[in-house]
Amino acid sequence: METEVLTPAQFADFQEVITGTLGIKMPPTKKVMLQSRLHRRLRELGLESFAEYHAKFFGDPAHQATELEHLLNLATTNKTDFFREPEHFDQLAKDVLPAWLRAPSGPVFSVWCAGCSTGEEAYTIAMVLAEQQRTFSFDFSIRATDVSTRVLETARQAVYTEEHAAPVPLALKQRYLLRSRDGGEQLVRIGPDLRRKVRFGHLNFLSPDFGMREVFDAVFFRNVMIYFDRATQQQVVAKICRQLRPDGRLFIAHSETLQGMDLPLRMVAAAAYRRLPGEGAAP
Ligand SMILES: C[S@@+](CC[C@H](N)C(=O)[O-])C[C@H]1O[C@@H](n2cnc3c(N)ncnc32)[C@H](O)[C@@H]1O
Repeated sequence: METEVLTPAQFADFQEVITGTLGIKMPPTKKVMLQSRLHRRLRELGLESFAEYHAKFFGDPAHQATELEHLLNLATTNKTDFFREPEHFDQLAKDVLPAWLRAPSGPVFSVWCAGCSTGEEAYTIAMVLAEQQRTFSFDFSIRATDVSTRVLETARQAVYTEEHAAPVPLALKQRYLLRSRDGGEQLVRIGPDLRRKVRFGHLNFLSPDFGMREVFDAVFFRNVMIYFDRATQQQVVAKICRQLRPDGRLFIAHSETLQGMDLPLRMVAAAAYRRLPGEGAAP
């Protein structure tokens, strides 16, 4: 295939679609990354050049309607891990859940993993809560959402390499993971009981209304808003607050900040916030 680069005008067109649809910033420094990801897509489609891909995308509305999903999938960065930034899982088990057990907000302790990528974060939450069920009598449910249909497929399959599952403590591996072999590769799969606890679904943080009726006791929104500009970050977190019950906990990543934003939240620990009662609060 001809090796070529996206022209500035072509890059600007894709940038507009990606940032406009997902909120993900696309500065010129992202051009090389986008090019290399698009290259793979071109090969899949049997196209010869970016010019051809661009012309089809912007010249044929029917094609754009189906191709958009692929473009958005490849525009997202999905790096994640089991037990990533583990202090938050400790807080969930030792602080948020015990408070809920003293004064349950409903029949089920509910958590939203917002921007769940390939599922590791949601299954980590599930393992941590299942561990607590060994001591306390309660039920829990986890909603996990992402805009990328590709990562959601992987998340639902719940199959990972053993190497990737290395951060999972041994006792939890023994209790919650199934082992299998695929050729030379050792694989693990999240066990069915835990899989049933997590409901995966498609959600774009830029959609005006998340279309969700649930209100959660805790929300993990980590390593997502780092890709948005500040105005978008504030709008999205304000909407997330509406899905968080008063006193519920919001976790963001340690590299992210809500400082200076007008939000009904109070910081309670590093990258952890308590939902204040007040405007837009859930009943
Ligand atoms: C780097 S991953 C973070 C995964 C996990 N939360 C963690 O901390 O390990 C960011 C995820 O946010 C998702 N994302 C980006 N923009 C989004 C949007 N507008 N709506 C919903 N999800 C989005 C991406 O698809 C990606 O899977």
